[in-house]
Amino acid sequence: MRLALLGCGTVGSEVVRLLHEQSADLAARIGAPLEIAGIAVRRIGRDRGDLPVDPALFTTDPLGLIKRDDVDVVVEVVGGIEPARSWLVEALRAGKSVVTANKALLAEDGGALHDAAAEGGGDLYYEAAVAGAIPLLRPLRESLHGDRITRVTGIVNGTTNFILSAMDATGAGFAEALEEATELGYAEADPTADVEGFDAAAKAAILASLAFHSRVSAADVHREGITEVTAADVASAKAMGCTIKLLCIAARGADAAGRETVSVRVHPAMIPLTHPLASVGDAFNAVFVEAEAAGQLMFYGRGAGGAPTASAVLGDVVAVSRNRLAGVRAASESAYADLPVRPMGEALTRYHISLDVTDRPGVLAAVAGVFARHDVSIATVRQGPAGGGTAGRGEDADLVIVTHVAPDAALAATVEELRGLDIVRSVASVLRVEGEA
Ligand code: NDP
Ligand code: HSE
Repeated sequence: MRLALLGCGTVGSEVVRLLHEQSADLAARIGAPLEIAGIAVRRIGRDRGDLPVDPALFTTDPLGLIKRDDVDVVVEVVGGIEPARSWLVEALRAGKSVVTANKALLAEDGGALHDAAAEGGGDLYYEAAVAGAIPLLRPLRESLHGDRITRVTGIVNGTTNFILSAMDATGAGFAEALEEATELGYAEADPTADVEGFDAAAKAAILASLAFHSRVSAADVHREGITEVTAADVASAKAMGCTIKLLCIAARGADAAGRETVSVRVHPAMIPLTHPLASVGDAFNAVFVEAEAAGQLMFYGRGAGGAPTASAVLGDVVAVSRNRLAGVRAASESAYADLPVRPMGEALTRYHISLDVTDRPGVLAAVAGVFARHDVSIATVRQGPAGGGTAGRGEDADLVIVTHVAPDAALAATVEELRGLDIVRSVASVLRVEGEA
């Protein structure tokens, strides 16, 4: 089996190292030796340390490498939409098998890759694209195909999980925790894709597509990042026996007409400390899958890093190589259900709302009236003196309200109306609450 490796950075260099170190085992598992036919990079003269590979294999011509007749499998670990999409479509149409870690491309235009794979007859595998080393996509696309998945809830971005875990552990604000994440090498120099939720949204689209047999793209995902999460939010979550996580949530549900739909969203949310995802700390990832027959399943591990990601890439390389030797291909994309994506306003969730209100008779009734007008049911109300002290009645009071489940649009409209009340001095924080209380 001859591989074209596109990219030799954080992930690609570990793929090269593992291919070298495990060559005998990999050959035995596949039934044929795996050889690197060439490695496409951007800077041919870049210092690559003591990478165990012949320097003559490097090229700056990815397309030329892909088109070579002696290439069976193309491994793409470059990233980005173009030119990666053109390379992979070319490879797949030519009947080569492709392994990619490129979540951005799969979420943007995975359909183009699946169509090209169907046309060329090769395999398209992408286990590393979501949650790095965690074997998660194979269970979704194979093991659970006898079941009906109802919901996938995940922590799929290590950088933001590190930041939120640090805020929870030390009481630090977002900026301070981001600085620590950058110093320790978890956050990139430009952390936008992670902290604004773009990376998690791409992964959410891939998970939803597989779980619900429908094409879901990044544009279908409601996305909110963690930049607005404050130390006060984290403290408020703690007071409720919760912690705050950036969650990706993909769920089945019915729309107003009773049609089956999916909702896919990424946003910070409070979850109770008893929820299996609450204890996922540091930069770890975990995904909680609920299926009708299997019940609850939890996948946990390292979601990023050169070696963990290369582990997933190589697992795919072994699978597609075996298929090629056997003259078969894996089951093609399963998108038969073609479920529409429900707008965020129809997603069912709960809100935790923290208000600074005037402390006088009738305030609670006025606030409750706003919830009632929007058909939002209140689950709990906690009132204390402004600033969280213990003094008696003063000018202001802190009011913390947690709702029952309601459509997101009704909850958002409730908050909007609360902001306009003269007795509400400020809406200090609004966070969604997920998981059983
Ligand atoms: P890096 O930036 O470390 O490496 C990118 C590689 O691609 C480099 O070798 C670079 O060449 C090469 N490259 C860039 N542009 C071109 C081009 N136009 N032509 C040829 N080669 C090019 O990226 P990562 O290894 O971190 O990530 C690779 C992929 O894996 C991405 O899709 C990413 O999302 C995904 N991924 C990464 C994870 C991680 O932990 N890093 C985790 C999960 C997925 P040169 O070496 O010359 O600069
Ligand atoms: N930036 C990503 C993260 C890398 O923090 O999880 C893995 O996709």
